[in-house]
Amino acid sequence: MTLHIEKSGQVCGARVTGIDLSQPVPDVLARDIRAAWLQHHVLAFPGQRLSDDDLERFTLGFGGFGDDPFISPIAGRRHIIAVKRDADETAPLFAENWHTDWSFQQRPPAGTCLYGKTIPPAGGDTLFADQHAALDAMPDRLRQRIEGRIAIHSAALAYAPDGTYGEADKVRGRSMNIRPSDEARAVQHHPLIRRHPETGREGIFGTLGYICGIVGMTDAEALPLLLELQAWQARDEFVYRHQWEPDMLVMWDNRSVLHRATGGYEGHARLLHRTTIAAWDGEEKGC
Ligand code: SIN
Repeated sequence: MTLHIEKSGQVCGARVTGIDLSQPVPDVLARDIRAAWLQHHVLAFPGQRLSDDDLERFTLGFGGFGDDPFISPIAGRRHIIAVKRDADETAPLFAENWHTDWSFQQRPPAGTCLYGKTIPPAGGDTLFADQHAALDAMPDRLRQRIEGRIAIHSAALAYAPDGTYGEADKVRGRSMNIRPSDEARAVQHHPLIRRHPETGREGIFGTLGYICGIVGMTDAEALPLLLELQAWQARDEFVYRHQWEPDMLVMWDNRSVLHRATGGYEGHARLLHRTTIAAWDGEEKGC
């Protein structure tokens, strides 16, 4: 097997062919995939016919499973969730705001794997914003305002009973199996500027949403800064637009990119199976 890696032509992202992920990945190729993942941040593997066992085996090849709160796993699996929308669903889109997966955890997952099972004929792209590129290009005057700052992360806005996916959401007929909880109100601190634990490259970690404040700042000070920062983090030049195909596996590096879902597929169903890759062994702890 020879891996073929083709860059997306956008700020990050690459398409990987020449490998059959329904079979165990030999160590030497797993090392090449990891190197490509660290370099391109988002890898897409088209044309993969994967069972849930295959998806789990691939995920374990890159670290243990992450801990996925607030969304029940699919039947018979502990580590796979369904990212799902029925054709006639009217609830607000899931994951439409920029975020880094589970950044409110003490040890957020290093990566996420998402496998396309039912993909609409158009729309439903996933956007990825490269947070190394965003930091590299940041004007000094904005960087000086975030340098050394510690962000406060929480899942409350999304998963608390009064959050976006809380009790009010249940009557909207959402097909995803979301379990809101008061535990979503817990907070965790992470530096706004973080070194990637494997590459050492600096980037911005997280964004307004799961970030709900900055240590030592009032909300009146922090929220306008976080809004301005988010506008910078998600500028078009830092964004890779990923277009899905059925049977495509995508893995992204949560330490390097933000991501968000998009709509535009009304009247069509969309179903993807998702796992998270646990924090890398050498990863710094939250603070
Ligand atoms: C996610 O954030 O895991 C979902 C992204 C998507 O549905 O495109």
